[in-house]
Amino acid sequence: MRPFQRLSFSSFLLLSLGLVLNLVFVCNGSSTSIFVRKVEKSIDMPLDSDVFRVPPGYNAPQQVHITQGDHVGKAVIVSWVTEDEPGSDAVRYWSENSKHKKLAKGKIETYRYFNYSSGFIHHVTIRNLKYNTKYYYEVGLRNTTRQFWFTTPPAIGPDVPYTFGLIGDLGQTFDSNRTLSHYQSNSTKGQTVLFVGDLSYADNYPNHDNVRWDTWGRFAERSVAYQPWIWTVGNHELDFAPEIGETEPFKPFSHRYQTPYKASQSTSPFWYSIKRASAHIIVLASYSAYGKYTPQYAWLEEELPRVNRKKTPWLIVLMHSPWYNSNSYHYMEGETMRVMFESWFVKYKVDVVFAGHVHAYERSERVSNIAYNIVNGICAPVKDLSAPVYINIGDGGNIEGLATKYTQPQPEYSAFREASFGHAIFDIKNRTHAYYSWHRNQDGDAVKSDSLWFFNRFWNPVDDSKPHGSH
Ligand SMILES: [Fe+2]
Repeated sequence: MRPFQRLSFSSFLLLSLGLVLNLVFVCNGSSTSIFVRKVEKSIDMPLDSDVFRVPPGYNAPQQVHITQGDHVGKAVIVSWVTEDEPGSDAVRYWSENSKHKKLAKGKIETYRYFNYSSGFIHHVTIRNLKYNTKYYYEVGLRNTTRQFWFTTPPAIGPDVPYTFGLIGDLGQTFDSNRTLSHYQSNSTKGQTVLFVGDLSYADNYPNHDNVRWDTWGRFAERSVAYQPWIWTVGNHELDFAPEIGETEPFKPFSHRYQTPYKASQSTSPFWYSIKRASAHIIVLASYSAYGKYTPQYAWLEEELPRVNRKKTPWLIVLMHSPWYNSNSYHYMEGETMRVMFESWFVKYKVDVVFAGHVHAYERSERVSNIAYNIVNGICAPVKDLSAPVYINIGDGGNIEGLATKYTQPQPEYSAFREASFGHAIFDIKNRTHAYYSWHRNQDGDAVKSDSLWFFNRFWNPVDDSKPHGSH
């Protein structure tokens, strides 16, 4: 008896249905999620929302946020805003096991943007911290003192486990609030957020109403005052508005958010690198020049050979505008930077590239497209085990809503795509393995909807792609 004849009629029906579903949802071996999100307009939370509440007391510090303050994770930059007067420029801090409070002092700045005047923006770098230690810190004076804490990363080493959160294009809508809550309540606790750009979307308001930078600062505080967020700039940080006389790109962002760029020999806060635990993270600027001989090009050319995979096996790149994106939204906007830098990413075996900008989720196969030389016609992406996986995580939940229109058919390079809001976790286990998961916002819950074991490209460069169509 041939195998087919053993199938019952119901099994035959099921098999046929499966084949049909395969045809519909798994084109070219790639997968578009069958989860259909009800598309509703994303609405900014109103100004009187509890997440924007100003802390009580005269001149109380608000919008407290921290980021890494050096190249290796032994320094932290603490920033905050006081509205009424400059107040104290000091941070008092002490380790969990010590009662001795130390003092670090910094700078206070203000800026004007059209008819907006900022509060007093404080930046203090705390240096010479011990690795793997919980520190408490205080800002403010007397009865308006506010206390927070953070934990420094373990010393840099090849097998140090560390957990990064991924958030992009967050904004300040009800969806943004869900994404942040889901990240904070994820059972795999993220220790540092890799933020891929587009913070407040204040520029969507008339005259880029910078009050929405303040509300965003208060909204994000509940996470970013307790763990560093590593900043990438997006197009919504540009705030370039010659029609109202504002021609200094990145003006509000630059005054409010600091990066430790000098520690990695960068000349600009918008591109830099940090090392943290077992990861070397390179942040690139999609909206600063990157053509040959530009400062960013020259820096990256020198930075990549400095990466020591024996000390930091995981090489992660952050940028705002993605190179591989099969959504119709912002399609090919990252193409010019890809042309400049992709061959370097393959040569230096970047493990993963995280980008934002497109308000949907997408994960690529390991592909490269570097053979084309104008005349040879070889211009399609090909499978390449030395190439990074490209992940678009611009799905934080901002006011512009979801990008639901995809190019059809789904290209081969696209492994999985879905138009939902969410966040991701990159959980490094050791020098060879990291577990990656993406969590969509689904009716108030975070649901794991895509995951992948990453095999390190330096220590374990075998094929880590999933069977086509699975996620
Ligand atoms: Fe963007």
